[in-house]
Amino acid sequence: MAEIFVLNGVNLASLGERRPEVYGTGTLQDIEEILRSEFPDVGFEFRQTDYEGEFVGWIREAANSGGLILNPGAWSHYSYAIHDALEAISVPKVEVHLSNIHSREEVWRHASVISPVVDAVVAGMGVYGYRAAVGYIIGGGGR
Ligand code: DQA
Repeated sequence: MAEIFVLNGVNLASLGERRPEVYGTGTLQDIEEILRSEFPDVGFEFRQTDYEGEFVGWIREAANSGGLILNPGAWSHYSYAIHDALEAISVPKVEVHLSNIHSREEVWRHASVISPVVDAVVAGMGVYGYRAAVGYIIGGGGR
């Protein structure tokens, strides 16, 4: 199977330090290690950036991959650029949020502008959301 891209967006480099009561104490590196040890036969392109243009370029790069798992952080709530980039590629796509964005206090956080152009959304499962997303993709999209 071709590699799975796992793309993390703005502010996710501070996982482990930023609001641990919401996002947990694990770091992004912990998440990468968990995925690599749980799925040793899967190749991962695991990346993070705070630059939206770079993130969009990576989505285009994922066009020929085995699938795309993405947590764009706050961009999820307003980036039509990320929406349009996702719409243009047809690999399996899963949006992951560590927290349950629908139950958070800020109303702007409840909506995601990218959800209409992904195959599946996981929110509120913490690190397990990333593991579930890999299982979904390698399992053939839940079918
Ligand atoms: C997040 C939720 C977003 O609302 C927030 O801006 C993040 C992280 C999550 O993983 O729960 O940075 O995507």
